[in-house]
Amino acid sequence: MNNINWQKLPFGYIKTDYNVRCYFRDGKWGEPELSSSEYIPIHIAATSLHYGQTSFEGLKAFKGKDGKIRLFRWKENAKRMQDSANGILMEPPPVKLFKKMIYKVVKKNKKFVPPYGTGASLYIRPFQIGTSEQVGVKPSKEYMLIMFVSPVGPYFKEGFSPVSMLITRDADRAAPFGTGQYKVGGNYAASLNSIKKAHSLGYANVLYLDAKEKKYIDECGPANFFGIKNNIYITPKSHSILPSITNRSLITLAKEMGYKTERRPVKIEELSTFDEVGACGTAAVISPIGKIKDDKTGEVYKYNAPGPISKLLYEKLINIQTGNSEDKYGWIDIL
Ligand code: PLP
Ligand code: COI
Repeated sequence: MNNINWQKLPFGYIKTDYNVRCYFRDGKWGEPELSSSEYIPIHIAATSLHYGQTSFEGLKAFKGKDGKIRLFRWKENAKRMQDSANGILMEPPPVKLFKKMIYKVVKKNKKFVPPYGTGASLYIRPFQIGTSEQVGVKPSKEYMLIMFVSPVGPYFKEGFSPVSMLITRDADRAAPFGTGQYKVGGNYAASLNSIKKAHSLGYANVLYLDAKEKKYIDECGPANFFGIKNNIYITPKSHSILPSITNRSLITLAKEMGYKTERRPVKIEELSTFDEVGACGTAAVISPIGKIKDDKTGEVYKYNAPGPISKLLYEKLINIQTGNSEDKYGWIDIL
């Protein structure tokens, strides 16, 4: 604990004092329990291990100049966790339970919330797993909801500096009517090989195309995609991407700043017409994209990154999250 270098934190796991766990058994959720163990005992035939009944969320707590701890839009994560649960036939955790657990896990690990001004934050990782045994493909009868935290820095080591993305066509993250719109483990397993390829070629991550036609931009490995041209914020509409809370927040902020916004299919050819492009998400915040390479055609798209509008949006978002700007939209809950 004493040797955390807050300014240099990567996006990774750091052991904290506590996690919070809750069990769904006999048709009902129990009371959240505090644990200091990093391990869980699990049945060898648990559905999470064999059939991918597992979902997760990611949200952040920030320390403000006033020393207060602020949670950003946790209700949206609670709702998305319910959607993910419904999407793979797990028991959706009630919003009230989600709130109780979030507050408990952050309060009990207060000393791990990075100080104001370090650029770091406390990442909260709720996850749900099917824990009871099934050998046939059936949903679990019992579930575990766990929340742990870790102090983190930027997801891409570049921080608010340009990253490069690789378009690959030899692997899809999510099928058109698959589980891409849910935050479930299988989507991330499906992305690992292409991300490895992107890393080995020197790219920060993958920019996925729609799985059916390979004509449209879907999203980046761990974040949504946006482009800006002629003062319009444009982001893909797709059935197979995660509905990003950060992206929705940026749309609201862009409108407030007087920019037009569009959510619609974005053709690959449009990449050459954007003034700025970026990846956005809880972990990525805004990662300005400086270069995109299409692995198949060899086409390279280059951008002046970070562009001025991305910069303004980034600052506006961070200022709300850390309490420097007014919370006009009710996005913040002070712990
Ligand atoms: N897309 C994917 C695949 C993600 O894993 C994430 C991260 O949560 C996002 C987009 C961004 O979503 P949010 O802004 O809600 O964190
Ligand atoms: C997030 O932004 O919260 C994510 O979950 C992204 C990634 C770590 C999968």
